[in-house]
Amino acid sequence: MDVGAVLGGDIVLTTPRFELRPLERGDVGALFDHFSDPAVTEFMDIEPLTVRSQAHEIVDWAQGVRADGVGVRWAIRALGGEALIGTCGFNAVVVQRGRRGEIAYDLSRAHWGRGVMAEVLPRMVAFGFEALALRRLEAMVTPGNARSCGLLERHGFQREGVLRDYALWKGAYCDQIVYGRVNDAVD
Ligand SMILES: CC(C)(COP(=O)(O)OP(=O)(O)OC[C@H]1O[C@@H](n2cnc3c(N)ncnc32)[C@H](O)[C@@H]1OP(=O)(O)O)[C@@H](O)C(=O)NCCC(=O)NCCS
Repeated sequence: MDVGAVLGGDIVLTTPRFELRPLERGDVGALFDHFSDPAVTEFMDIEPLTVRSQAHEIVDWAQGVRADGVGVRWAIRALGGEALIGTCGFNAVVVQRGRRGEIAYDLSRAHWGRGVMAEVLPRMVAFGFEALALRRLEAMVTPGNARSCGLLERHGFQREGVLRDYALWKGAYCDQIVYGRVNDAVD
């Protein structure tokens, strides 16, 4: 199983209502609007975007992790829809001395509380366990992000502990709650 080849291949995913397509240059404008909302970035590692070049940098980063075979960031759209309603993906995929990947996701505020991630997250989990053959999926959540904790707990992720002062973001150290889900069927 060559994870880099999978990530570099055709990885447009669909669910009954949504399409996941790797971020590309054409997403810059919508991505800027999405990450300019302080409610979206509150518990994330970034400040709300203020200039469009920052959205370019995010697309460059997303294309870089995919090219390096260590992750992917998809734009989430309603099937047949033009507008990006959020992003999701895998960071830090590890295949040497372990098979794990960290998932991440964010929706524009208008789409919270409608079960979007309830549909998208199982597709991501299936991609991680089946297409990437990962043994372990993990997610890092900033304390206070109850929506994200609830989402993970509804989808079989266990709260495993708190990594104290794990990240230095926005000028301060912050803890991260680590969630994990393991697939015993992957050797
Ligand atoms: C974290 C985040 C993605 C969670 O989104 P969400 O909309 O709460 O999650 P879901 O898509 O699973 O929706 C669940 C809610 O939709 C409701 N819902 C409506 N229709 C539903 C359906 N068909 N299926 C499931 N739930 C549905 C549920 O009752 C639940 O409501 P509640 O939150 O009031 O209990 C969102 O809050 C977000 O983007 N936050 C900003 C970015 C962020 O913090 N990302 C995570 C970093 S770790």
